[in-house]
Amino acid sequence: MGATLDQDAVRLATGGCQFVGAGDAKVEYLDSIDSTMRRAAALAAEGAPEGSLVVAGEQTAGKGRLGRGWSSPSGGLYLSLVLRPDDAMLRRLPATLLGSLAVAESLEAAGVTPHLKWPNDVFLGDKKVAGVLGELSRDGEAHLLVLGVGINVSTAPEAFPPELQDVATSVASSGGAPPPLQALLASFLSRFEEHFEAVRHGGGAGILSSASARMPLLGKPIRLRLMNETIEGTASGLSATGGLVVEGADGSHRVYVAGEVEGVGGP
Ligand code: BTN
Repeated sequence: MGATLDQDAVRLATGGCQFVGAGDAKVEYLDSIDSTMRRAAALAAEGAPEGSLVVAGEQTAGKGRLGRGWSSPSGGLYLSLVLRPDDAMLRRLPATLLGSLAVAESLEAAGVTPHLKWPNDVFLGDKKVAGVLGELSRDGEAHLLVLGVGINVSTAPEAFPPELQDVATSVASSGGAPPPLQALLASFLSRFEEHFEAVRHGGGAGILSSASARMPLLGKPIRLRLMNETIEGTASGLSATGGLVVEGADGSHRVYVAGEVEGVGGP
């Protein structure tokens, strides 16, 4: 199991999966691509079933949240999954939170201790090590969710653009032993599938408690930047679908589904 991936390694990583790579699901590895999100969406448009997976060794136009890019030099794990939740499941699915929880769990299995920053960032110390992106669209009567995950594994600090060098890290730069990419991929897919299947079958309450336990900002005063305003309050918990519940100074509780959160007034 080496530091790099290839088609066989990715296929092997799906070996223990329930639906990723099973049946007619596509499994693709590309040494370099613009974005696995674009490729997975193209496969889905051609009818690729749920569980189709695209993995890349590097991306030349990686996509991040809020229209940002995602720096994707070699040394990282970059993947997109095709998911097709029905209406009922979609209403219960904290999809990107579930993805970031599975990333955190697979990094923990590799011996490091990440934490989560709502809505779906994974941090080692005070720097971001991984991100999750969900792109949801309708596909006829059904839903198409392309879920993208980027994890900086053995990425050298100088491989990030200068503006990211103070805010991004990799497992290796944070002092951890970078896991083999095939093992990390297998571990992520297994954790993700377990949570996704739990939600599909009406369960998944443990996802919120597991994610909450890894969110140090919960219970603390925060500032939440929205599109047109910034609010302050206490991050009091997660809603059933992974929204952030913020308690205002007047004791009111409101749920937010997007935004940029930061701690205020202390560590
Ligand atoms: C974020 O902004 O935090 C989300 C980053 C998501 C990056 C991953 S890398 C694999 C997949 N392909 C992309 O172009 N983006 C996602």
